[in-house]
Amino acid sequence: MTHRQIPFAFAALAGLALLGACGSGDAPAAPVDAEVAATPLANGLTAAETVDARQAHLKAVGKAFKTISDGLKESEPDMAAIQSAAASVPAETAGMADWFPEGSGPASGVKTDALPVIWETRADFDSKMADFKAAATTLGTVAQAGDIAAISEAFKATGATCKACHQTYRADD
Ligand code: HEC
Repeated sequence: MTHRQIPFAFAALAGLALLGACGSGDAPAAPVDAEVAATPLANGLTAAETVDARQAHLKAVGKAFKTISDGLKESEPDMAAIQSAAASVPAETAGMADWFPEGSGPASGVKTDALPVIWETRADFDSKMADFKAAATTLGTVAQAGDIAAISEAFKATGATCKACHQTYRADD
């Protein structure tokens, strides 16, 4: 009988070794398993690709917002620059619904300011995203008419939707 127990013991040890190798995912500083990092999420991208893409899009949105904000402060605003920046925001965020799939939070090991609470209160996050999209679409439309006061108002309304999401779902820089 003992000759049967030896291979079993080996198998058990091998199993433990495997657990040891990949069971450390819960530890905060543990390196992320290469296989996990390469696994496509619901949007077809890996976590790293997802975070890269959304940060690049949001950076562009931030830049467009700065262009509008700076423009509105000038005594003779560059209307064409404001209009093109305002039009770029809905275009830049068209795919936003796919930017935050499960598995693209900080637990992925990718450096991100997206807070885990996004995936805990997803319906609220999605409704904040919808508020933003509606406001940004209005801003884009209003900007085409070229009325500074109306643009300023739509800009403020859109900015409030950025802030509403950031204060709950984005880590402070
Ligand atoms: C529904 C939520 C939501 C809305 C709406 C939203 N953001 Fe964000 N934003 C985030 C999250 C989450 C991050 C962190 C992303 C990450 O690090 O992966 C972020 C990051 C950013 C960044 C940093 C990008 C970088 O360089 O890493 C900028 C700039 C930004 N947002 C600007 C804006 C502006 C301007 C608006 C409105 C016009 C806006 N965001 C609307 C959630 C939102």
